[in-house]
Amino acid sequence: MPTLIATADPAFAPAAVAEIQAISGQIVAELSPGIWSVQLPGDFFALAEQWRHQPPIFVRHICPVQTVLPLADGLAHVVATAVTHFAPLLEPDWPFSVQTRVLGELDIKPFDINKPLGDQLAAASGAPLDVRRPFQILSVVLAGDDAYVGLSLTVNNLSDWAGGVRRFARDKEQVSRAEFKLLEALEIFKIDLPPRGRALDLGAAPGGWTRVLRQKEQYVTAVDPAWLHASLQKDKGVRHLRLTAEEYLADYPDTYDVIVNDMRLDARDSARLMGEYGRYLYPHGLALITLKLPEKRYDSALDHALNILRQHFTIAGARQLFHNRSEVTVYLKPKSG
Ligand SMILES: C[S@@+](CC[C@H](N)C(=O)[O-])C[C@H]1O[C@@H](n2cnc3c(N)ncnc32)[C@H](O)[C@@H]1O
Repeated sequence: MPTLIATADPAFAPAAVAEIQAISGQIVAELSPGIWSVQLPGDFFALAEQWRHQPPIFVRHICPVQTVLPLADGLAHVVATAVTHFAPLLEPDWPFSVQTRVLGELDIKPFDINKPLGDQLAAASGAPLDVRRPFQILSVVLAGDDAYVGLSLTVNNLSDWAGGVRRFARDKEQVSRAEFKLLEALEIFKIDLPPRGRALDLGAAPGGWTRVLRQKEQYVTAVDPAWLHASLQKDKGVRHLRLTAEEYLADYPDTYDVIVNDMRLDARDSARLMGEYGRYLYPHGLALITLKLPEKRYDSALDHALNILRQHFTIAGARQLFHNRSEVTVYLKPKSG
């Protein structure tokens, strides 16, 4: 039986597999592109604890496999067996949720499992069902002929969301899809922005990140030769400098509490420029950068860019997020901070 199911963006599958092999994990099967059943020499929870402190960059989500149930017996049987097995293991005082993923061609909806299993587990264990803020998660992955089922704490899984798929509600005022990228980064790195901080947004146009920063009470200097969305042009909390980041750097920048950089630049060039901006970050400050990776040899480009950043900052986190395309988001702190 595999120990866990690991998930990553299929575009970065080789890098994710390398991360799994680095912890002596063996791929048992690729259940779907970017989703693997994995055998570990040790147990799931030891790895979960290790990765909670030092998360991998490309593996987005893990969940344990404690039992494998044949789908041929029917969904009702899978649900009944899972209730018998897992209800006694649930902590009755903690909210739980059931997260089901259906892989491949199976004609089953996640709801077909989530609903009966959630209801029956709640009744049998007394634990409250809370899909928004669960402390414990029963993960169910249906693939081929089997249901892989395992119980863990939410903090064990690298992401609170099934397979690391973090969706945000769209908002009418949204300026760009890039907003989700910043929201996801703030959530995954557990970043609280300083109250009424001064933020610098490099490569800001059309202004999605600037809008998110404004919603979080930051005063934003937005640097981009391109125009910002009209709604931001009239916002008094936004100063738009129609300059490149290179030009602003040559123009005696201010010092900031927060610097974010989503510039469409080669990862290494962007990292070099970000390094230069390091001296304009207060010692208590924080920074975020998206490193745009090339299709080929992205691993060496990423290593190189991270090494450049390391010369100027402490790397507090680096993850390939659900809302990242061909990029990795890096969370930086000043070296002395
Ligand atoms: C992906 S978009 C940023 C999207 C933005 N974060 C948002 O939420 O709307 C990349 C931006 O980087 C800008 N850019 C590229 N090179 C730049 C440079 N050297 N200096 C400043 N901006 C740059 C482009 O003009 C473009 O608007």
